[in-house]
Amino acid sequence: MEERIIILGANGQIGSELAAALRTKFGAPNIITSDIREPKSLAEEEVFELANVLDKDKLKSLFEQYKPTQVYLLAAMLSATGEQYPQKAWDLNMNGLLNVLDLAVELGIQKIFWPSSIAVFGPNSPKIDTPQYCVMDPNSIYGISKLAGERLCEYYHKRYGLDIRSIRYPGIISWKTEPGGGTTDYAVHIYFEALRQGAYTSFLSENTELPMLYMPDAVRGTLELMDAPAEQLTIRSSYNLAGMSFTPTDIAKEIQKILPNFEISYSDNDPRQAIADSWPKRIEDDYARKDWGWNPSFDLEAMTKDMIENLKSTI
Ligand code: SER
Repeated sequence: MEERIIILGANGQIGSELAAALRTKFGAPNIITSDIREPKSLAEEEVFELANVLDKDKLKSLFEQYKPTQVYLLAAMLSATGEQYPQKAWDLNMNGLLNVLDLAVELGIQKIFWPSSIAVFGPNSPKIDTPQYCVMDPNSIYGISKLAGERLCEYYHKRYGLDIRSIRYPGIISWKTEPGGGTTDYAVHIYFEALRQGAYTSFLSENTELPMLYMPDAVRGTLELMDAPAEQLTIRSSYNLAGMSFTPTDIAKEIQKILPNFEISYSDNDPRQAIADSWPKRIEDDYARKDWGWNPSFDLEAMTKDMIENLKSTI
């Protein structure tokens, strides 16, 4: 059967690259991208619709018009911006999800993808090899909304049979679209500034280790999860997924192997430090490996080479 896919929040860091991969896989006319703002560019065969996920009537008419077989809900407010606007973050992250879940049940949409995050863990979760199941006491509004969202996803799966699939993304690193408002954004900005300025001031301290994933792995993993036979999936909340883990010092050293004059410094008292300190350093992803064959291909060294090579020709 032919797939028709709607991506909500398609202009963001992850959406823009997932849209490209899905267009390649299923053909551009079958991928409907949507966001609250027009995209910077749109090729002739590409389809875009303005929509706010909080506008349920608009979403409903979009779903009725295009009759998607799959919906990717990527519109969300990330961790750092969420702390500035907690009520807005809660509203967007929870009610956007509820609107999509309800409409998926009402209109019989076959498959949904919704991203969760390592932010669902909190200060009392194990920091090293954080397992799929453990104490979860997130203390950022973003993490709280993601954990509540996970519970809703599992609930809608059990109660209504909705085929919803989800990954707890680590920090995602990419060069095509910069992230906005996250705690892990430093690991993207550092590459841009290494090439632009030859120097970067990290808002996270030198030994802050966090789980990260390179975009090509994130996109491949997401498509693999969406392709996996439903009966193989034992987790309907959200899968832990690991790529690599590193600190600002580690990434700076790796950049210096290619750009020896690169300099890193550190700022004090950034509010994002407290968020990072509440998150895991390294997470375990046994379930993703066992259930649908997850295996990352990029480590810090391979990612750094690829990032710098690509950014050199774009900035
Ligand atoms: N990268 C996200 C953030 O930093 C975590 O999901 O907010």
